[in-house]
Amino acid sequence: MTQRYARITGWGKYVPARRLTNYDLEQIVDTTDEWITSHTGIRERRIAEPNETTVDMALHASRIALERAQVQPEELDLIIFATSSPDYFVPAAASLLQNRLGAAGVPAFDLSAGCTGSIYALVTATQFVQTGAYRRVLVVGAEKISAGIDYTDRNTAIMFGDGAGALMLEASNSPTGLLSFELGSDGALWDALYCPGGGSANPFSEKVLANREQYLRMDGKRVFKFTAKTVTRSIQNVVESSGLPFSEIDYMVPHQSNVRIIELLTSRLKFDPDKVMVNLDRYGNTSAAAIPMALADAADQGKIAEGDHIVLAGFGAGMTWGTAVIHWEPTKPSEEQAILVENWPIREALQLQANKVRAAVWSAQVTARTKAQEASMSVMVPFYTWQRKRKKAKAQQDEENTDQQQG
Ligand code: UT7
Repeated sequence: MTQRYARITGWGKYVPARRLTNYDLEQIVDTTDEWITSHTGIRERRIAEPNETTVDMALHASRIALERAQVQPEELDLIIFATSSPDYFVPAAASLLQNRLGAAGVPAFDLSAGCTGSIYALVTATQFVQTGAYRRVLVVGAEKISAGIDYTDRNTAIMFGDGAGALMLEASNSPTGLLSFELGSDGALWDALYCPGGGSANPFSEKVLANREQYLRMDGKRVFKFTAKTVTRSIQNVVESSGLPFSEIDYMVPHQSNVRIIELLTSRLKFDPDKVMVNLDRYGNTSAAAIPMALADAADQGKIAEGDHIVLAGFGAGMTWGTAVIHWEPTKPSEEQAILVENWPIREALQLQANKVRAAVWSAQVTARTKAQEASMSVMVPFYTWQRKRKKAKAQQDEENTDQQQG
């Protein structure tokens, strides 16, 4: 089978209108703009309105990505939704998005890997395209993380914000999209960033609410240390497995949580800081939305161009990490349209299956007809024989009666 790739053909970003600045936070918790800026680089973040949900934001970002790729919602084959703040525990946010997009019947599922979710989703989506199972997959990362933040806890209140990002992936014959990746998880660090209450281990109760256990808790120092150690090595691995020399990496889009982490990664890798995307100053840490949002900003601001090789580096709750090298070439060559529509192996495979089903139905019909004919013959043949005999006997009787009358 021809090698398939998943071209990134569309991208979209959405953030809510309401800004929460460091000065606003000074009024809420014991902090200062000076501390937040110097320790994180964040100046403001966006906060969704009470009636604005994660799926609402995802819908905006997805529509922009679909529009850019010129894909209709009903043409989608799959939706993967990375989030840690779904609208409901049940059902998946992906199903709500599928319905709101008007992508009737399209399979959809949520993926939970903390802030690394969108990298896990990108990698998962690419596997579906590469196996030939699906042609068009929408990857979404969206969070209303503010709903899980304790605004009396300065540790987390200063860091997180809301938003959504989406990427459209389409099958391609040329080597583009995801070129190499590394995913990882170190569950021993599960409580470095977690939400103690509301899950099956500690269901909602008055105690949970009284102890504010429904909110996110973070041991920032552990997260920082883990990231500095793991992510630098992971980026080196993933560039090596892409087969590209480091000099061929044009741009880096790291997770947006703290500019000090980004600076540390950049300096350890001896990478040009001007080639690194930073938008956390405006949006804070938007968890699973951060990388697709930052990639969308990089594209919209002309920081990345057709043909670029880009490193994506995510890390977050789990602790999880996910790094990837992607080739950015969103323009679909015209012959690729044909691949997407006509010469698609899955289409041929489905055609084959349809033929097999038709043949099986036809053969079952023939068998049934034959059996019915046999059954009816087993009744009708003795009946016709009896009828023939009866007619013959009657004719004989009639002949005898006539003879008697004449005699
Ligand atoms: O998506 C993954 C998400 N998480 C991350 O990437 C987080 C990674 N970690 C971090 O970004 C940093 O650890 C934080 C920004 C969370 C904290 O920065 P830090 O430099 O590690 O601060 P710290 O916890 O060591 O605290 C230093 C000082 C302490 O005061 P003392 O003991 O030195 O007097 C804290 O009490 O800063 C104080 N402090 C604050 N002061 C004002 C801690 N938080 C604040 C605050 N405002 N918000």
